Amino acid sequence: MPKAVQVQEWGGPEVLKLVDLPRPAPADDEVLIRVRAAGVNPLDWKIRNGARRAIYSLPYVLGCDVAGSVEAAGRAVKGLAPGDAVYSMIGRAGGYAEYAIAKAEVVAPKPARLDFPEAAAVPLAALTAWQMLTENGNLEAGQRVLVHAAAGGVGFFAVQFAHNLGAHVVGTASARNHDFLRALGADELIDYNTSRFEERIRDVDLVVDLLGGQTQARSWQVIRKGGTLVCAAGAPDAVRAVAAGVQVRQQSVRPDGRQLREFAAMFDAGKLRVEIGGAYPLERVADAHRQNETGHTRGKIVLVVGGPA
Ligand SMILES: NC(=O)c1ccc[n+]([C@@H]2O[C@H](COP(=O)([O-])OP(=O)(O)OC[C@H]3O[C@@H](n4cnc5c(N)ncnc54)[C@H](OP(=O)(O)O)[C@@H]3O)[C@@H](O)[C@H]2O)c1
Repeated sequence: MPKAVQVQEWGGPEVLKLVDLPRPAPADDEVLIRVRAAGVNPLDWKIRNGARRAIYSLPYVLGCDVAGSVEAAGRAVKGLAPGDAVYSMIGRAGGYAEYAIAKAEVVAPKPARLDFPEAAAVPLAALTAWQMLTENGNLEAGQRVLVHAAAGGVGFFAVQFAHNLGAHVVGTASARNHDFLRALGADELIDYNTSRFEERIRDVDLVVDLLGGQTQARSWQVIRKGGTLVCAAGAPDAVRAVAAGVQVRQQSVRPDGRQLREFAAMFDAGKLRVEIGGAYPLERVADAHRQNETGHTRGKIVLVVGGPA
């Protein structure tokens, strides 16, 4: 029977269990994907440890992102056929498995330049970055954007998208990540370990807040009046936003196959790059979570499913 990683009780990485589950069957508007790699995201361990138990229930197969090949397509599916190499943010469950189900509308052909682990690193993080910048942030060419946690899974995509949109990009990251981020298009970098960003910049048009907490509290003063803060890490402080004369938006990432097709074109044109900060076989998912929970990975962590990709 196919393998999947299931959470059967809330807790630390040790609660992740490799189990046998029947192969799911796609509904008319779905595809069954033979998973070759799955992305690891902070949401996964926030579900695993029970922090989201009001929303998610047990048993739970984690995993939002997959790359693999179409095994079977439902009767109403057009444009995807068995054997096609694809990638997808399938939702918020089911990706840490040998087979996963996705609505056809959230599946896109895999970028030709990327292998399966690289492709699995893309969907949720890149969709979040893109939606924060363009849908919530309305970023325009020539504007100044501050990306917090620029070297992480969402941040390094935000840096690239913002640069490609013609913005002036400022990022916060440890010094060891500065050359990496400069190569992706960052114009200015601030080492948050040795300096306070609010003493280095002001009048930015947009803050991409991937940290919340104290980082958000110190961010209001660097945004110009009428500028915007988009937060992906918890609820933004609406009272502080009003006091600062800043617009505030809360990001909640949405699966979107059309946007993934656009990203694939960017990868294949050499305008977008992916960075793998850790790759583990499915059996070592607990180690993948331990790394992700450090909060200091450069780029993305992936699980390789069913042997080398
Ligand atoms: N709401 C949504 O739709 C949504 C979607 C995606 C993600 N998220 C959330 O967004 C957050 C970020 O996700 P992610 O996948 O990008 O996480 P991640 O990959 O784990 O982020 C790791 C990065 O954070 C950096 N970092 C840690 N502390 C920092 C600080 N004080 N200042 C600047 N950089 C710092 C680290 O850089 P150094 O190594 O240089 O320290 C590291 O590169 C998570 O809380 C996640 O749950 C929300």
